[in-house]
Amino acid sequence: MAMQVLDFAQAEVDPREFRNALGRFATGVTVITTRTPAGKCEGMTANSFSALSLDPPLVLWSIKRDAPSLPSFQEAGVFTINVLTQEQADLSHHFATRQLDKFSEFIVPDGQNGCPLLENALAFFECRLQQTIEAGDHLIMIGEVTRAGYDEAADPLLFSAGRYAIAAALPNRDARDDLASMWEGLG
Ligand SMILES: Cc1cc2nc3c(=O)[nH]c(=O)nc-3n(C[C@H](O)[C@H](O)[C@H](O)COP(=O)(O)O)c2cc1C
Repeated sequence: MAMQVLDFAQAEVDPREFRNALGRFATGVTVITTRTPAGKCEGMTANSFSALSLDPPLVLWSIKRDAPSLPSFQEAGVFTINVLTQEQADLSHHFATRQLDKFSEFIVPDGQNGCPLLENALAFFECRLQQTIEAGDHLIMIGEVTRAGYDEAADPLLFSAGRYAIAAALPNRDARDDLASMWEGLG
């Protein structure tokens, strides 16, 4: 099918069309958790997570300004990125659905920064909130990573074109060639 072009300078673009375009960029899926000083836990599904800096170790994600959990993330000043495996689509759905207490049905251990650490995740990044940048209808949250972990044996949950998906390696490619590419930066 032909390329759909959205020209913001020419006409009002339907936000759904913009979302459709953005959705072509496949991502992983995370649940980002926090705990306020008063002990209130929050967690939200987010696919806006991205690596930012190796030295110092920084990551970022963005949160909608009207997210009910935003004040807790700001107050806590700490958060943990839990990267989901392909077995955890239900968990993604759970944390993407507004509820008064998303943690009532789980026993969730705390990580070193006090935020909930989801069991059987693919990776985690415990962070201190380093900077918040207001940008349009979202806030960019930049975190300094204080501790991280990953499970090499598990497979990621992906999100692409509004659907959950799983990753498959390209056939007929030598993994050593892929790893040996010139890119030695993030990811
Ligand atoms: C796959 C997926 C990715 C999402 N990514 C984000 C995101 O990056 N930022 C955001 O603000 N909301 C995102 N959402 C929506 C939130 O998860 C949803 O609004 C959630 O209810 C917010 O939590 P809260 O209601 O406890 O504040 C995403 C939802 C899904 C299903």
